[in-house]
Amino acid sequence: MKKKVLAGVALLGALTFAAAGCSSSTGDDGASGDGGSGDVITVGFAQTGSESGWRSANTESMKEAFSADNGFDLKFNAADNKQEAQIAAVRSFINQGVDAIVIAPITVDGWDDVLKEAQDAGIPVVLEDRTVSASEDLYASWVGLDFEQEGKTAGEWVKENFDGKGANLVILEGTTGSSAALDRATGFAEATEGTDINVLDSQTGDFTRDGGKKVMEGYLQKYGDDIDVLFAHNDDMGLGALDAIEAAGLTPGKDIQIVTIDAVHDGMQALADGKFNFIVECNPLLGEKAADLVKAVLAGETVEKKTIVPDQSFTQEQAIEALPTRPY
Ligand code: AHR
Repeated sequence: MKKKVLAGVALLGALTFAAAGCSSSTGDDGASGDGGSGDVITVGFAQTGSESGWRSANTESMKEAFSADNGFDLKFNAADNKQEAQIAAVRSFINQGVDAIVIAPITVDGWDDVLKEAQDAGIPVVLEDRTVSASEDLYASWVGLDFEQEGKTAGEWVKENFDGKGANLVILEGTTGSSAALDRATGFAEATEGTDINVLDSQTGDFTRDGGKKVMEGYLQKYGDDIDVLFAHNDDMGLGALDAIEAAGLTPGKDIQIVTIDAVHDGMQALADGKFNFIVECNPLLGEKAADLVKAVLAGETVEKKTIVPDQSFTQEQAIEALPTRPY
């Protein structure tokens, strides 16, 4: 597809892009790789980072869907969970005159200006995974998950198993200000409202194993074996917490029951091993849908503003059954 910016701006963009640590599926020179045929769609994908197993599976799904075989030249940037770096990557994609931009926004807020810049440059934006607070008019479409429902499903499990027992709960929150953390917290609070479950503490572990481990170590020091149940906003934080619980001489899954979200392989293994008690799925395989949306938008077709990919949930028995055929 034809480039939309002046050569000088493109050169500046390419330099910024290289500095931002971007990579291209067809080379590092910032060229579209279409050999001038006009058929290849150049897409800049601004990923959050590589904080979790879910994120790895999502990146793989995106790279597969936006492959050269499927007619794309993908320029990929992972922002190491830093909002400023992600916005800089999007600006760099705009400067290079890509045909379309896909963003997995780290946080909800802060997108208005750069989305407007993309719109002014005539570059459509498709969001995947998380949502933004900016006006819907500033992006073409979004494909992702119902995070609020995920939190609600986790909360319903906790309510079913702990209401009426005066149980003590601790929470490991995802990245502060991300729609995944905000909406899961809302859904969980809604489902557990009116119960006698006592929330001892709730802090962010930034969706990482290290973060989950560190925060859980703090909880264990402060509350010891008073903790009955842990809700972690993702598997990785739950897995980090497992290490902390075992190091404290307690048995995860028994002394402290654990509910998480994602259902990636390591989380499902912990569930099958009896160390986790319940997992709500968050499907990371969004690449194909995102690629279809980009093609449709560029073809001038009318697309849905929101596409929600369905999730399921797993008990320990269901995890044992599902693990052998789990794709991620
Ligand atoms: O936005 C989806 C969340 O981001 C996943 O639950 C988490 O693992 C990831 O980092």
